[in-house]
Amino acid sequence: MIDDAAVVILAAGQGTRMKSKMAKVLHRAGGKPLVRQAIDTALQIAPRERIFVVVGYQAAQVRAEVEAAGVQAIHQTEQLGTGHAVMCGEEKLAGLGGRLIVFVGDCPLIRASTLQQLAEAQRDAKAGATVITTEVPDATGYGRIIRDREGNVLEIVEHKAASPEQLEVREINSGILCFDAGLLWKHIHELKQDNPANEFYLTDMVAILLRAGSRVTAMKIPDPSELLGINNRVELAEADRILRARKVRELMIEGVTIERPETVTIDADVKIGMDTIVGPFAQITGSTVIGEGCRIGAASIVHSSVLEDGVEVFPFSMISDSRLDAKAQVGPFARLRMHAHLAEHAHIGNFVELKNTEVGAGSKSMHLAYLGDSTIGSKVNVGAGTITCNYDGHKKHRTTIADGVFVGSNSTLIAPVEVGEGSYIAAASVINMTVPPKALAVGRARQVNKEGWKRKT
Ligand code: UD1
Ligand code: CA
Repeated sequence: MIDDAAVVILAAGQGTRMKSKMAKVLHRAGGKPLVRQAIDTALQIAPRERIFVVVGYQAAQVRAEVEAAGVQAIHQTEQLGTGHAVMCGEEKLAGLGGRLIVFVGDCPLIRASTLQQLAEAQRDAKAGATVITTEVPDATGYGRIIRDREGNVLEIVEHKAASPEQLEVREINSGILCFDAGLLWKHIHELKQDNPANEFYLTDMVAILLRAGSRVTAMKIPDPSELLGINNRVELAEADRILRARKVRELMIEGVTIERPETVTIDADVKIGMDTIVGPFAQITGSTVIGEGCRIGAASIVHSSVLEDGVEVFPFSMISDSRLDAKAQVGPFARLRMHAHLAEHAHIGNFVELKNTEVGAGSKSMHLAYLGDSTIGSKVNVGAGTITCNYDGHKKHRTTIADGVFVGSNSTLIAPVEVGEGSYIAAASVINMTVPPKALAVGRARQVNKEGWKRKT
């Protein structure tokens, strides 16, 4: 944490090269919109009230992300360049003093530790500005770092404005700079639109500050992957891959076994406890929290759900917005959605779908069932092929099954309906009336055998 630092994230551009109807910074990598990724990184180094995001294109949507993260937005009505974006923040930012870290909102891989080093490098050098740079094999599109023979930084030249000789330079501007705030605000109005794009380039501040007699230094870092700027969907996929690799690595270091980690997709905010095993091709997304000693089977998808300790999800299951208490078991090929809740030791098996349904402790539905809008007690056995008819074409209705009930295979429960404690439903019954406790309900035609019957020829 750097107490005297403020951060401004530039996120007002459209991102034309994404070829998208959606603003670039709303595209997701690692399970989060790019702008959110930038804010979360900033929150690790600067106080919340000193973090700002410049919004413009699709301002309302981007602002919603900014506000959800609890930081402040600055509005840039017209996108006249990165320098202009910073100028738009003058009113809110100029009074803050200290240092101002500016970073482009399309650079999601930057680590908080690198921003911390940047601020320290700027302070140690007493520089007007320090810029993070790196060497890349292909510098197309990036601003180039131009140095003199002694290696001092002279200026940053944008790709579009660079001479053929300057285009040969492979040291690039990351778009992440730390300024002495006082000096930045003193000189920012010296920026001009004298370039092929007719924009106010923030990068021109380097030459401006040098002319004003202050120092400008570069912090060159060896790993270019951290500085990948997202301009198109190829780069977006690359950033996503790197963020996910970081996440699984972090989890493995913390004691989670991840089989074939390169195939697994885990969102940034997911939490997983020790000794849980995640199978190949699993996707664990949203706000999911998984306890200790669980098993997430191959190719299962778990979204924004809570799994307590010892839960087992067998392969090819899909669980969203649901809650599984300790030692519950699900799958293979099961689907739980819309606030399904399994109590301890409940077991949901093959090809069973649960929607907005509670299943009590130790209850089972092992094969081929649809249980929607239902409340199922403990120690219930739901036979194969059971269907709760929860929808009459207009409204949804509830099915309530009390503790210890046995529902025979292929039963149809027409909601609203209640089945009393300890009762037994004969296989293939159609149940549309209350079943009292401890009763046997038979809701089907009697079998008729016509002896001596012969086929007509
Ligand atoms: C910028 C840098 C370039 C650097 C590269 C690193 C400038 C002039 N160029 O180029 O030196 O190598 O990043 O990735 O700074 N934005 C606004 N308002 C605007 C224009 C842009 O908020 O008026 C935001 C965009 O939303 C984006 C960020 O600034 O998040 C960078 O803009 P972009 O157009 O992608 O800049 P680059 O051409 O990549
Ligand atoms: Ca960019």
